[in-house]
Amino acid sequence: MLEDLLRDSFIKVVDKQSTGWLLINRNFEIVYINEALCRLWQKDREELLGRSVLDLFYNGTKKIPAGHYHSPLLETIETGREFRGKEAYLCLSGANFPCWFTVDTYTFRDSEGIVQYALGTYTLIDRYKALETQLESINISIIKSFCKAIEARDAYTLRHNENVADLAVGLAEYLRLPTTDIMTVYLAGLVHDIGKIGVPESVLNKPGRLTDGEYAVIKHHPVIGADIVAEIDGFGAIAKIVRHHHERYDGRGYPDGLAGEQIPFFSRLLAVCDAYDAMTSVRCYRVPLNIESAVAEIAACAGSQFDPDIARCFIEYIRRFGGRQTVS
Ligand SMILES: [Fe+2]
Repeated sequence: MLEDLLRDSFIKVVDKQSTGWLLINRNFEIVYINEALCRLWQKDREELLGRSVLDLFYNGTKKIPAGHYHSPLLETIETGREFRGKEAYLCLSGANFPCWFTVDTYTFRDSEGIVQYALGTYTLIDRYKALETQLESINISIIKSFCKAIEARDAYTLRHNENVADLAVGLAEYLRLPTTDIMTVYLAGLVHDIGKIGVPESVLNKPGRLTDGEYAVIKHHPVIGADIVAEIDGFGAIAKIVRHHHERYDGRGYPDGLAGEQIPFFSRLLAVCDAYDAMTSVRCYRVPLNIESAVAEIAACAGSQFDPDIARCFIEYIRRFGGRQTVS
């Protein structure tokens, strides 16, 4: 009697929690999901109960190509390893809004010690807030004021920088890079085109073909940007990423004509995000490509303009989490 009462009370409390609760069995099927997660995904509980989390979130696969599990909960049910405060994405297949959580996982074992169920509790976090909290030692307001300076003369560049930072963080998380690297790529994305502040507006927004002289001016922006960023204490690595974000994998880029792995990894990563955002954004002088065409273009340039592995992962990331068209 008391047990029943306790169980009913427990379910009532868990159901009303703002933290999401997800319990799965060894077949990855949802045994219990609380209201918070149902509300988040705008689904009725009946639609989700009994469904495989592999199908719902991960296109039927357990691991990403690099060999890591897609989520702590999958790893827990498969290996019995529990996690505390692990960061994870969940994106319902077909939905365009991945949610970022901190996750705790728990195992429930049978009398022989075999894991029969795994529970994940999901606390939604704002990833940028989380990143910024971890950036205590760095004065992010400097970056923000740089961005304001850009906005004052070119609203497109500001939005483009934010879009590229957003894509780069998403891709870095998809690649399961460590948090410090994700912070680096976030900051580098925000400032990568800051050197355009040194490019005249008439050149920056010129419709039609640029003259050789104008193109040479544009090509100088990574160098100007790197010099500006290098003035900030502790930003040496970011300055280097900024300097090389227009290098090409085949060595035909600028400013230094670096090739392959001579180009810093994060510059190669930003290059793909940069190109994708530029192709899918509305500009005054051309219509944007749709997501499929932009992805096809990136695939076509893998190995020449872009690092082929990063390009492949980026395409996987866009296909999984959805692209979007930006407007300026
Ligand atoms: Fe650029």
